[in-house]
Amino acid sequence: GEVERSADQHAGDGADQVVVSEEQHEDRRHDQGVDDPLAHQPLPRHRSTAVPTHCRQCYHQRRGGSNRRSGTIALVRVGILTGGGDCPGLNAVIRAAVRKGERVHGDEIVGFLDACDGVQERRTIPLSIESMRGTLPRGGTVLGTRRGSPFDTPDGVARVQQTFSDLALDGLIVIGGNGSLSIACKLHADFGLPIVGVPKTIDNDIVGTDTTFGFNTAVQIATDAIDRLHTTAESHDRVLVVEVMGRHTGWIATHAGIAGGATAVLIPELPFDLDELCARLARRHDRGRFASIVVVAEGAEPRPGTLDVGEREIDRFGHVRLGGIASRVAHEIGSRTGFETRVVQLGHIQRGGTPTAYDRVLSTRFGVGAIDAVHDRRWGTMTVLRGEQVEYEDLTVAVGRTRTVDMQLFDGVAEHYFA
Ligand code: F6P
Repeated sequence: GEVERSADQHAGDGADQVVVSEEQHEDRRHDQGVDDPLAHQPLPRHRSTAVPTHCRQCYHQRRGGSNRRSGTIALVRVGILTGGGDCPGLNAVIRAAVRKGERVHGDEIVGFLDACDGVQERRTIPLSIESMRGTLPRGGTVLGTRRGSPFDTPDGVARVQQTFSDLALDGLIVIGGNGSLSIACKLHADFGLPIVGVPKTIDNDIVGTDTTFGFNTAVQIATDAIDRLHTTAESHDRVLVVEVMGRHTGWIATHAGIAGGATAVLIPELPFDLDELCARLARRHDRGRFASIVVVAEGAEPRPGTLDVGEREIDRFGHVRLGGIASRVAHEIGSRTGFETRVVQLGHIQRGGTPTAYDRVLSTRFGVGAIDAVHDRRWGTMTVLRGEQVEYEDLTVAVGRTRTVDMQLFDGVAEHYFA
């Protein structure tokens, strides 16, 4: 388990720390000539503007300074953003980082709205323990999220740098999937920005961490749906084809398929053969079972040359717009076997609503890990889960790679139950 230092312990360790008064702190910002662009922003009514005594001893990174502990006294101002698709547990990460940041480290936390757009356009909201109250069980993200990147426009990175300097940001926490973590990695590696990452995605496909928050919730939602579909499929002797999310990997499909007792699971990692699937369904029906559930990950593809899936639409960020493979599969099953088939596309239901208890705990641990990483100056890293422990891994590990389904789980466990 994680051991949090108490406020007093925090204040007590580190010989180079000096207690300063609130006035001294203000003087320092004034001396630095920092024109505080956040000063005009209204604080929540109940937020205290006083800095707790135990929080006045923080390491402040001098602009362009070295990595050594400077000993300069200042509040640490940390930005947080959420990028990419939303995911249950994002608010829990923000809340945890804000809570530990404000209460233990004495940080001032700034939320950037709409991912990197908010950084480039300097759209911020102050975040506090008070303002984050009640958000632990809430899905989505209070900060809003977008896909785009500052690398998409010629002056995007310069605007991000300008925001860091104008807001006197000491660090930025980027909570995102593969896309956002790649942007974070590049901003750190190529432009030296002090960034730490937190991996998120319901797809569970980020390399470096054993799991991502949001995945457990998505699997539970898909499993609940499959449970319900069993009874209607059995009543009508139908094949129900359920499409779940999973752009590059079949983690949700595999886990929900096992948990929901599916007949077959089609995943992007293993191109499927419809003749094989239909033969399997026919064998099952010959044995007297007249209802089947087939789970299809949205990114699943037929073996080359076996089925024409048509043209795929590309969105404005260059992503193939997925969704619809289940209809194609259901149509083929129906026409090749004569079994009555129906389709259910779960889509964004899997991303919406409250996170499971597991995801709330993981998100909270990642939030705490992220704010600690800021204070430990672990720039260019992200929080990861390894076994039972939250640890840190270089962002580079996640870039350009995809964590695919464990084939031991698929072949060794799932396949025995399917069909
Ligand atoms: O990245 C997670 C994910 O849920 C994918 O599985 C899916 O393809 C994608 O997001 C859909 O995102 P959106 O429709 O929000 O762009």
